Amino acid sequence: MSSNSILVTGASGQLGQLVLDHLQRLAPEAAIAGLVRKEEDAAALRARGVEPRIGDYTDPASLRSAMAGVHKVLLISSSAVGQRVAQHQNVIDAARDAGVGLIAYTSILRADSSPMILAQEHKETEAALRSSGLPVTLLRNGWYTENLLGALDSDLKLGQHFGAAGDGRFTTATRNDYAEAAAVALLSDDAAGKVYELAGQPAFTLSEFAETLSAEAGSEVAYVDMPQEAFAQALVAAGLPEGFAGVLADSDAQAAKGALETDSTDLETLIGRPATPLKDAVRAALAAR
Ligand SMILES: NC(=O)c1ccc[n+]([C@@H]2O[C@H](COP(=O)([O-])OP(=O)(O)OC[C@H]3O[C@@H](n4cnc5c(N)ncnc54)[C@H](OP(=O)(O)O)[C@@H]3O)[C@@H](O)[C@H]2O)c1
Repeated sequence: MSSNSILVTGASGQLGQLVLDHLQRLAPEAAIAGLVRKEEDAAALRARGVEPRIGDYTDPASLRSAMAGVHKVLLISSSAVGQRVAQHQNVIDAARDAGVGLIAYTSILRADSSPMILAQEHKETEAALRSSGLPVTLLRNGWYTENLLGALDSDLKLGQHFGAAGDGRFTTATRNDYAEAAAVALLSDDAAGKVYELAGQPAFTLSEFAETLSAEAGSEVAYVDMPQEAFAQALVAAGLPEGFAGVLADSDAQAAKGALETDSTDLETLIGRPATPLKDAVRAALAAR
């Protein structure tokens, strides 16, 4: 693999696959590798022209092998909420030991000051990145629009979208928008040291989300605001594990106070176009049902 290679972790995941799409589109000649845990995922990468590297965030030796010859790493935050700091530290240590030239990390909006429970592990990971001495790019992703579309079927069935964010405003973008931003940052020569607050404009409330959904679906969906605890219980009743339901209800409660809103235009600047409008993302999700 060339010394100018890029390794994307989480390469079997939804965001990782989209980052690979954009890297291959934007830099067809680039040497691109993906970190995966399973042989079948390695085969899928090979089939699309991406070099697989097998590694697990919990296995430092595997990560050290996976980093061989890599110039830039995109660390896509782990999905193992609660275990992420130790896992990410393993990736950072392996990158430092391999002497990579840059590590980019998918963090969360205003990770350093966000009151959201979800932000704590990102804040600690950002501190670990700073301590590593490596050149770092922070891709502080805002809320995924897809988070709001996860309950589409029940929203339409019940004519109600539940949340606990009151009149709090969200500046969301789609996974694909964030993936493109990550690819552009990885391919740029001056991303080291940059902190990007990534989000789509304009901001909207969950009532406005429900209005957009109603208009696109052609059937009325009302936003039903709930107290944080009741919303957490509703998420458990809908099948989410209790811990994660609590974390999501906290995210909504903090969003009520502005934690998921920003006026940053970093995303649009990076990708050279506005983020996917809410109504377009809603329309696409409806069409995909
Ligand atoms: N800002 C937001 O609104 C928002 C929303 C959703 C997610 N996120 C964050 O963004 C990340 C990416 O999102 P996504 O939608 O792509 O999630 P996803 O589809 O669940 O992908 C997670 C990826 O992480 C990999 N992974 C998990 N544990 C690992 C381990 N121990 N070692 C190596 N790889 C491991 C998974 O590999 P396997 O396929 O082997 O499991 C998968 O490739 C999430 O993990 C989460 O931290 C943010």
